[in-house]
Amino acid sequence: MRIVIATGNQDKVREINEILSGTDFEAVSMKSIGINPDIVEDADTFEGNALIKAKAVHALVNDYVMADDSGLCIDALNGAPGVYSARFCGENSTYQEKFDKIFEMLKDVSNDKRTAHFVCAIAVVRPDGSSFTVKEQCDGILQKTPMGSNGFGYDPIFYVPEFGMTTAQMEPEQKHKISHRGKALASMVAKLCEK
Ligand code: IMP
Repeated sequence: MRIVIATGNQDKVREINEILSGTDFEAVSMKSIGINPDIVEDADTFEGNALIKAKAVHALVNDYVMADDSGLCIDALNGAPGVYSARFCGENSTYQEKFDKIFEMLKDVSNDKRTAHFVCAIAVVRPDGSSFTVKEQCDGILQKTPMGSNGFGYDPIFYVPEFGMTTAQMEPEQKHKISHRGKALASMVAKLCEK
């Protein structure tokens, strides 16, 4: 069966295809089947935004559709930047600017309170219009100095104590095993394959 991924991001499509290999599902990107709707992600939860994206694409195709939404939640900032992670500090800001703003906001926070989570929600809409969401997280601590050059986004400041390194210092397969996105995809596959 085909599952359309409601994202323009080819890396996500590839990663999802790898995880779906061995199941009856083949992931195709919405772009590869000529769909590219304008979607306004204005929910205030990860699940809400994932569902908005999956439903918008499902309105145009009669297939399984999946979408994900993710971000960084900092405990000392009451979960910010959360669903605004990509836009934090201004849409066009660099990640170094985002890091600097976080360092400034956390300057009086003690080391043991610099805890954070990457969160990923995935929404699936089935051909009959029924839907489900899954959400997973990856726990870490915010470093004061960026380290590593793998990954993307906030990875250089996200330190995972069990591995003694940031997610930007991990090999992709290593990050994939413990990451919010890897775990959410695994939960999604388990739910899709439920009889
Ligand atoms: P989206 O799910 O592609 O909209 O990503 C939301 C934003 O959250 C990204 O642009 C990053 O800033 C951040 N983010 C989500 N997942 C990760 C990750 O695995 N590493 C680093 N940053 C992430």
